[in-house]
Amino acid sequence: MSKRILLHLTGSVACFKAAALASMLVKEGYEVQATATERALRFIGPATFEGITGRPVLTDMFAGQPDFIPHITLAQEWADLLLVYPASANCIARLAAGLADDLFGAIFLANNFQRPVWLAPAMNTQMYLHPATQRNLKVLEEWGVVILAPVEGRLACGTVGTGKLADPELVFQKIKEDL
Ligand SMILES: Cc1cc2nc3c(=O)[nH]c(=O)nc-3n(C[C@H](O)[C@H](O)[C@H](O)COP(=O)(O)O)c2cc1C
Repeated sequence: MSKRILLHLTGSVACFKAAALASMLVKEGYEVQATATERALRFIGPATFEGITGRPVLTDMFAGQPDFIPHITLAQEWADLLLVYPASANCIARLAAGLADDLFGAIFLANNFQRPVWLAPAMNTQMYLHPATQRNLKVLEEWGVVILAPVEGRLACGTVGTGKLADPELVFQKIKEDL
């Protein structure tokens, strides 16, 4: 059976790279279900992911059916991997705080590390180096989240430094090797 990837998008300019990753995964035979925050959908349209994955992009925890409660079903039955790509500073803080006030926060708690969770930060260098972000990443890593470290490079804000989203090709290779 093909492996199932839950691909969560958050509010970053780097969202377009998630479309490239989703495309590679689907071509390789993976099933991909995208979830997104409302802010992520300010950066990229759901039609892109719906066209690539053949599934609706899920944003709303309350949009389920009696036999499909999105955060429970996706976390405990559907996904073989939870992948946050790109992960905003805000999402990282939300997960490290254990908040369940959005769809992916609830998925993360309901999963409770029954399936692997990978997270790829993408943000301005100072946001990444801020002690709050570093503390939150450390908490998540200690719990068992695999952090796909950002790389150095020219960022969308025009500065050069750490915070650039890990390349989709590298993440694709890691999924093929590790999952
Ligand atoms: C143009 C623009 C680019 C942004 N890029 C990023 C980014 O790469 N990483 C990040 O953590 N936040 C970025 N932000 C800020 C987030 O979108 C903001 O913190 C938002 O609340 C994140 O929401 P979410 O985590 O629910 O998706 C950006 C904001 C704007 C306006």
